[in-house]
Amino acid sequence: MKSIKIKAPATVANLVCGFDVLGMCLEEPFDIMEVTLLNEKKVIIHSADGYPLPQDPQQNTAGAPLIEMINTLPEEVGFEVMIYKNIKPGSGVGSSAASAAGAVVAANLLLNNRFTNEDLVRFAMFGEKVASGVKHADNIAPCIYGGITLIRSIFPLDIITIPPPPLYVTLVHPQIEVKTADARQILRKEVLLKDAIKQWGNIAGLVAGFMKGDCDLIGRSLEDVIIEPVRSVLIPGFDSVKKRCKEAGALGGGISGSGPSIFMLSKERETALKLETIMKEIYDGIGLSYHTYVTTINQRGVTVIE
Ligand code: HSE
Repeated sequence: MKSIKIKAPATVANLVCGFDVLGMCLEEPFDIMEVTLLNEKKVIIHSADGYPLPQDPQQNTAGAPLIEMINTLPEEVGFEVMIYKNIKPGSGVGSSAASAAGAVVAANLLLNNRFTNEDLVRFAMFGEKVASGVKHADNIAPCIYGGITLIRSIFPLDIITIPPPPLYVTLVHPQIEVKTADARQILRKEVLLKDAIKQWGNIAGLVAGFMKGDCDLIGRSLEDVIIEPVRSVLIPGFDSVKKRCKEAGALGGGISGSGPSIFMLSKERETALKLETIMKEIYDGIGLSYHTYVTTINQRGVTVIE
């Protein structure tokens, strides 16, 4: 096999309370990527999406991980990548992670699965470093493994997959760009012990809720007393979306990754559609353009398009 086409899905990092440690893979939206094996040590990046993404592989979120990968190999191999991007950069649904994870999964298939999923996460994190200045795996890991993942540690890497209950996800992406690097810069570097206690109670509750399929516990645990109060000011309409969606039956939700997208979880598709209507009403009222998605949790991560 010389060439492969894959789907690289969007992901929701943090899942409200789990900053940098929890992430969830979505069925929609997704990028499409075509990766071709070369017989020389080089990485070539093309994109067919109109976004001004760097073509220099060292500066590209798909290119940097592939350079790391080929540098570990003794033989003369490289990759040519074509990216068809649907996940807008700076949207908060793991655009950079989709490129990084999609590239390494496709490359590994072309190399007959030489690397483990953990190795792929390690390579792909070089893409996140290019995008946001820091290595974090809460978009990369769910994009590669699918479902919901807990990243207990990144040095050393310790990823735990959590079987997700069958929930619906409603997502709104107000069309403003929030750069992850900026959204990290504004965070306080210290937290109060009383806030830390609330936060780790919520993270433990959320993980237990997912594993037990206990929707009330999931709903109670979708609370963030540390990051959301700081970042939500960057997102017009955030408080109304959250309040009105919860009143309409959402289990809960909040900022997707570093924003500006907002996600809500619900048990029923009917509720998920109702939340979409509410989100549309709010952003029509504000006069800000947006995209919405009603989707489900993707259990497989990056997949091959036959
Ligand atoms: N955990 C990261 C952050 C995710 O919130 O900064 C960025 O997509």
